[in-house]
Amino acid sequence: MSPSPDGRTDPRFARTLLQREDAFLREDEGDDAGFYEQPRLVSHLDATALNTVERLVAGLIVEDDPVVLDLMASVDSHLPSRREFSHVTGLGLNEEELRANPALANRVVHDLNADPVLPFEGGTFDVVLNVVSVEYLTRPFEVFREVGRVLKPGGLFLVVFSTRWFPPKVVRVWEDAREEERIGIVEELFREAGVFGNSEYFISMGLPRPEDDRYFSLGVPSDPVFAVFAEKKGLVRDRGTRLVLRDPAQLDTDWAAVQSRKETVGETMECPHCQGTLSKWEVPDDPCIDWPNDYLYLCFNDFCPFVVRGWRFMWNQGILGTSYRYLYNPLKGTSTTVPIRGLTDLRPGIVDEDPAGRFRSAIKKGIPDFSGMTPVKEYGPKLGPSRG
Ligand SMILES: C[S@@+](CC[C@H](N)C(=O)[O-])C[C@H]1O[C@@H](n2cnc3c(N)ncnc32)[C@H](O)[C@@H]1O
Repeated sequence: MSPSPDGRTDPRFARTLLQREDAFLREDEGDDAGFYEQPRLVSHLDATALNTVERLVAGLIVEDDPVVLDLMASVDSHLPSRREFSHVTGLGLNEEELRANPALANRVVHDLNADPVLPFEGGTFDVVLNVVSVEYLTRPFEVFREVGRVLKPGGLFLVVFSTRWFPPKVVRVWEDAREEERIGIVEELFREAGVFGNSEYFISMGLPRPEDDRYFSLGVPSDPVFAVFAEKKGLVRDRGTRLVLRDPAQLDTDWAAVQSRKETVGETMECPHCQGTLSKWEVPDDPCIDWPNDYLYLCFNDFCPFVVRGWRFMWNQGILGTSYRYLYNPLKGTSTTVPIRGLTDLRPGIVDEDPAGRFRSAIKKGIPDFSGMTPVKEYGPKLGPSRG
């Protein structure tokens, strides 16, 4: 029974993973309170991924003046600054982190692994958020049931995760699972709690990492954002429809225009996808590859929609951590692709770099700058709930 690569893991497979005897063991079985004693006043994702999380949250919370619980909270609750919240409670393990979080009106230090019972009355919250933390829960079944208890009917539980964590404290089932299997694991936790309606999921990956990010030089794209969310069952009146953010990396494309630009690449020497200038590239000296020519032309624009979308396209085929660049063969006049595992791949072969600079030429030509992203309302009902 293998998981499907589009994120819809077979429920039986996720259940098997969660039932493993060692599923909730961790490298560090010591007291969690001790591990989190030192405050970490930091962001746990890069700025682009955080922007995506905030826009996802903004679209999904549709209640007026909602009462919110940020479960496993730290310095940032990812709540949109322009919205009003009647009361936000943060529950976490480090008091200093909670004090540094400006969104919180109420701060609760509570170890969910020692005691999964939430210290709140039933039916208190409209929204419960859990961001980049579910992987630390050793008793997640109990915690998800508890979230179901403290939510109002129709209330939202949103679980967001990525591919980074504190290795000593992550549970084994999470660490061993593949990315798409983690979606299935969280879906199964929702199902098992027995109080939620059908869950939905969201995936965003492939956006360029900001240039000032500490990991920029690694050449990996922005941290992927995965989310699974569901409402507590029950009657709800007079409430707007939750809007699922469209994956910002999956822009709409005018394929006919791309096709027609492909026919003139020999004259324009522009990438048909982003219209950035192609760079002359010397093929590597590799006896295993029979390159058609000593020089080819590649698009090295990391904002090129072809590259940005490619990470997700390959992920959907079950090939993780891979995208591709546009390649033009001037001898044959043909367009093709060359795979990459990181944005710095193939760069050593550049002979003539796009003279306008690494990223900027495409932006100047009106190609979207993914670092300054569109407000969430642009991804509203006219586009409909979409997984991009
Ligand atoms: C990676 S941080 C994420 C913080 C925050 N949600 C965010 O988005 O930035 C993980 C947080 O989970 C909390 N945490 C870890 N183990 C916990 C536990 N056993 N009980 C309650 N909170 C816990 C810690 O306080 C820590 O701040």
